[in-house]
Amino acid sequence: MFINKKLFTTALLGLLVTLSIIALVLSLVRVEDVTLPPTVQYGMVFDAGSSHTSLFVYEWDSDKQNNTGVVSQTFSCDVQGPGITSYANDPPKAGDSLRECLEEALKVVPAAKQRDVSVYFGATAGMRLLREQNSSAADQVLAEVAKTIQEYPVAFCGAQIITGEEEGAYGWITINYLLESFTKYSPKAHMWVHPEADDSFGALDLGGASTQISFVPKGSFINWNETSRFTLYGYNYNIYTHSYTCYGQNEMWKRLAKELIVAFSAFYYNFKFLNLTEGQSLATVRETIEHFCARTWEDLSSNYPEENPERLPKYCANANYILTLLLDAYKFDEVSWNNIFFQIKVGSTSVGWTLGYMLNLTNMIPAEAPVWVKGHTPSLWAAAVAFITLALALGLVALLVLLWT
Ligand SMILES: *[C@@H]1O[C@H](CO)[C@@H](O)[C@H](O)[C@H]1NC(C)=O
Ligand SMILES: *[C@@H]1O[C@H](CO)[C@@H](O)[C@H](O)[C@H]1NC(C)=O
Ligand SMILES: *[C@@H]1O[C@H](CO)[C@@H](O)[C@H](O)[C@H]1NC(C)=O
Ligand SMILES: *[C@@H]1O[C@H](CO)[C@@H](O)[C@H](O)[C@H]1NC(C)=O
Repeated sequence: MFINKKLFTTALLGLLVTLSIIALVLSLVRVEDVTLPPTVQYGMVFDAGSSHTSLFVYEWDSDKQNNTGVVSQTFSCDVQGPGITSYANDPPKAGDSLRECLEEALKVVPAAKQRDVSVYFGATAGMRLLREQNSSAADQVLAEVAKTIQEYPVAFCGAQIITGEEEGAYGWITINYLLESFTKYSPKAHMWVHPEADDSFGALDLGGASTQISFVPKGSFINWNETSRFTLYGYNYNIYTHSYTCYGQNEMWKRLAKELIVAFSAFYYNFKFLNLTEGQSLATVRETIEHFCARTWEDLSSNYPEENPERLPKYCANANYILTLLLDAYKFDEVSWNNIFFQIKVGSTSVGWTLGYMLNLTNMIPAEAPVWVKGHTPSLWAAAVAFITLALALGLVALLVLLWT
């Protein structure tokens, strides 16, 4: 009996050690270091234009590309009512007008991420004009806006009036990002890469109360004081922007500018109405506008019964204004005209300054370090667990045998 017991426990211990070694080997072989997929980061930008305010929600993966996020628009909301400048006499209303959109936008962001959402409020030409006329009124409107946004659980980054140059430069970034001038996904390489051709598009933006032209200047005449420098996806860009504010030039300009304040992204809407956004030649555009302007009021109102009768007569003046601006101020001709694309959206993303602003801002938002974990093949992992369980059970049996006999 004594010898039998010693033999039995020795055999049991030997088996135990063997099982443990197998379990150890199984849990060590074919283990790989894997990174967890990047988490998503969010940002929001309010675009307070002269006639209305919009809110855009953007998202990007926390592992950025050469320090800049690959940003996409996930949500947009049009704030009800007019632009914030119309609340100059009652600034708290300017803040209140934003609540509905803010609450809608926060529903898009997972609750755990809301505190990290950068929210920025940028006002453009309408507020620039208000600041010229009455700077304390403009300050009060912005203060109320800031107060309202700070009531929400987000990372508020500021409410500011951006300059025409900034608006132009950010618009340039937006356009060129959407047209893949900076970075492009390569399905072959499964990653984002810098495009081989180092070309970019110029950008023209006709807003309610100002117009911007932005491009990368070529040649040596560049006055570096007039360019803004951006680093995007590891490459440097010097962008020249000129902003024309539509007041103070001359009386005719002033009158036309007033007409235009009906309009937002006026290039697009006016040309879209006349079906001229499909790359028509300059001759066709001229002819269409002339023909439209020659039509009688009875003819127009019976042909466009759904169109707002306030707006209908303005398309003629607006289209002529845009044509004059492009040909006389920006010096487009028959040939370069064919390089103009009229756009309001690329894919489902709105073209404006906000996306460009968000892209530049992602440079400053720290990337989250990638999370490394040990990855195991499921079958090996299951086998290792099985052997550990077996070893444990056997150890327990050995213990019982030793104690009771
Ligand atoms: C400027 O705006 C403030 C606040 O709306 C108003 O009290 C003040 O009278 C305005 N000043 C002028 C010169 O219009
Ligand atoms: C990041 O920079 C490298 C060169 O420094 C470039 O080869 C690569 O394409 C860039 N990545 C992106 C996403 O542009
Ligand atoms: C650029 O700005 C600096 C300082 O403001 C000035 O001294 C310089 O003359 C400017 N250069 C040009 C080319 O305008
Ligand atoms: C772009 O972002 C950088 C930070 O990465 C900031 O310093 C710079 O002021 C921004 N550019 C503009 C024109 O706002």
